[in-house]
Amino acid sequence: MTQPLEGKKVALAVSGGIAAYKAVELLRLLVKEGAQVTVVMTESAKQFVTPLTFEALSGNLVYHEIFGGQSSASMEHIRAAENADLMIVAPATANSIGKMAQGLADDPLSTLYAAFAGPVLVAPAMNDKMWDHPAVQENIRTLKRRGVGLIEPVAGELACGTVGLGRLAEPPVLLEAVRKYLLRQSDLAGLRILVTAGPTREPIDPVRFITNRSSGKMGYAIARQARSRGAEVTLISGPTHLDPPFGVTLLNCQRTVEMAQRVFEHLPRCEVLVMTAAVGDFAPDTVYKEKIKKKDKETLLLKLHPTQDILQEVAKQKTGQLIVGFAAESENLLQSATEKLKRKQLDLIVANDISAPGIGFQSDNNQVTLIDRNEKVESLPHLSKMEIADILLDRILTQLNER
Ligand code: CTP
Repeated sequence: MTQPLEGKKVALAVSGGIAAYKAVELLRLLVKEGAQVTVVMTESAKQFVTPLTFEALSGNLVYHEIFGGQSSASMEHIRAAENADLMIVAPATANSIGKMAQGLADDPLSTLYAAFAGPVLVAPAMNDKMWDHPAVQENIRTLKRRGVGLIEPVAGELACGTVGLGRLAEPPVLLEAVRKYLLRQSDLAGLRILVTAGPTREPIDPVRFITNRSSGKMGYAIARQARSRGAEVTLISGPTHLDPPFGVTLLNCQRTVEMAQRVFEHLPRCEVLVMTAAVGDFAPDTVYKEKIKKKDKETLLLKLHPTQDILQEVAKQKTGQLIVGFAAESENLLQSATEKLKRKQLDLIVANDISAPGIGFQSDNNQVTLIDRNEKVESLPHLSKMEIADILLDRILTQLNER
């Protein structure tokens, strides 16, 4: 019988903390599941566990110094680590997290991270006060924004003798996270996904426009995660400040008509459309050629007309594509979202309560409810947009498999 992680290559990066002993157990579990593991250690990790322990258990040389010492044969192992399917940092100290967030590269762990193109998981372990420190939390947010998966530390007795939040998650939990990432890795291969993101922008004159507070983060997270799981992704984006996700075809647009045009151009060659864009519902009747002057004006009346509802039109034009919509609601969340699901003939809608503080627009996190076409409701906990993206993609895949 093949083992679950047969043929998968994992780079296990260990930084210096008392929890380094748990990395030994994680390595044992990974090897037992059939993974090929290359271990990378920082100098301080060697104070807790010797490279020999990891070498013996992994059957591979350990990458533990960037200069001198190690033979040229070890270059192969550095390359093996760089070519791994996944990198997991466990335990991740505040120092290593800081270096990763800032792009510093002066030890085997941070050097590997800077050179690593695949998915990365981080399992922090530190004193509870360090974990709470704004600098550490800021670094964690930076890594999450970049798509790094966080395996949350747990509460319990810490090395310093106190009790608090900062213990490394237990090895079976770490193994489960690795499994989830690795097995998801190419589950969307061959699928063509069209994603819209961000706000639209309707011009009033050459300097002014009507827009909304959408940051585009949700759509970019979906595009990035879908790509990392093997999908071919086209991202149609209104104006945002976000970097385009690696490997995704990005098409920029401003006005609703432009977004609609791009959607209808690309929809026929896609299997899935995820419409996260906050499309402006109204546009000025007149777009002034010159800047509107305030002189001699007591009031300025702008006449607006409704824009095209893209999803409403998609409902007419679709030829079997799976369509996902979003619903931004400030009241009657479930009722309004369900009504939109039906009216726009969607397969799934993601309902978002925009009145709740600290989530939704601009935020890196959200708390959403999924409603499928059978009106089955699934309320997700407060999660990062990356995590929501992965769960949404899981549900899309389930629906496609049920067809
Ligand atoms: N949408 C669209 N075209 C529009 C407006 C919205 O395709 N002109 C899409 C959005 O991308 C989203 C879904 O429809 O996936 C719901 O958008 P939302 O703004 O919540 O709802 P509206 O239909 O615009 O209704 P209202 O603003 O009145 O709640």
